[in-house]
Amino acid sequence: MTSERSAEIRIADEASIAAAAARLRAAELVAFPTETVYGLGADATSDRAVARIFEAKGRPRFNPLIVHLPDRAAAERYGRFDQRARALAERFWPGPLTLVVPRRDEGGLSLLCSAGLDSVALRAPAHPVAQALLRAAACPIAGPSANRSGKISPTRAAHVAESLGDGVALILDGGPCPVGLESSVVELSGETATLLRPGAVTAEALGEVIGPVAVASEADPAGPQRSPGRLASHYAPEHALRLGAETVRGDEALLAFGPAPPAGAAITLNLSETGDLVEAAANLFAHLRTLDAAAVAGIAAMPIPETGLGAAINDRLRRAAAR
Ligand code: TXA
Ligand code: MG
Repeated sequence: MTSERSAEIRIADEASIAAAAARLRAAELVAFPTETVYGLGADATSDRAVARIFEAKGRPRFNPLIVHLPDRAAAERYGRFDQRARALAERFWPGPLTLVVPRRDEGGLSLLCSAGLDSVALRAPAHPVAQALLRAAACPIAGPSANRSGKISPTRAAHVAESLGDGVALILDGGPCPVGLESSVVELSGETATLLRPGAVTAEALGEVIGPVAVASEADPAGPQRSPGRLASHYAPEHALRLGAETVRGDEALLAFGPAPPAGAAITLNLSETGDLVEAAANLFAHLRTLDAAAVAGIAAMPIPETGLGAAINDRLRRAAAR
């Protein structure tokens, strides 16, 4: 669905990043690339700016936001880091990992970022454009994925324009996002470290640094409360999505994986012909969008192994399939 008025898209360079920083300081919204997905940024210390995010996304108020910082030193002004949080930040930042820690009230973050919780989600992104923007704006940037609430996350600047239209002042175009899936979210505000959202940093990788990490299960009734954004139905395409497809009908679009997809689909896009999960993650949201725009009866997705990044890919596919 294309909005009638559209936002300004500018190739990310020194001048456009400076312009974006000025917009942020004026409490306006700017979309920016990260290594995971595009974020919809606002000055996280401004209630007015953060409120605009909820409005632009059509997001339920109870859903808290990730606050982006350039590094751990900056993050520790807004959240209380224990040994585990420090060790994880040292190992994985900047990178696709979000740490949920107790909020420091003296940091001055808008309380809207936490949506009523005592914790705050913090992340130092690795993407050079995100880093440059954070340093130019010199404020923490609240940034959910730059899509309308419940829809597929954007991995290209054009996706942001299609999804948010004039809800955003400026879109910085930094090309396709290399990871393609949202960050891993780990809850550290309680005693048990819990992976709330799987991503490129796997539970095993976290476990190597801080010991065993619990994984929030979808059946666990505490799950959605602990990470309110993990609504069962999320990343919703318009078409019905059929998972684990070994065969395909002629009126279906096929989201393929691996060297030997079944023939006969109305349209086929392959996440990775070589069966590479990293390549598949990077292609997932863009391929889903393209297939969703096709005139077909539904989308069939081939099975993806549950190993490594496959766990995060399957998590997003299950959410996209939930109605
Ligand atoms: O990769 C990413 O994380 C991207 C880029 C832009 O950084 N951002 C992103 O944000 O995916 P968003 O808002 O779409 O997802 C944030 C997730 C949600 O599931 C939310 O519920 C959870 O993090 N979250 C945020 N603050 C939380 C908190 N204080 N406690 C528990 N979960 C929290
Ligand atoms: Mg999101």
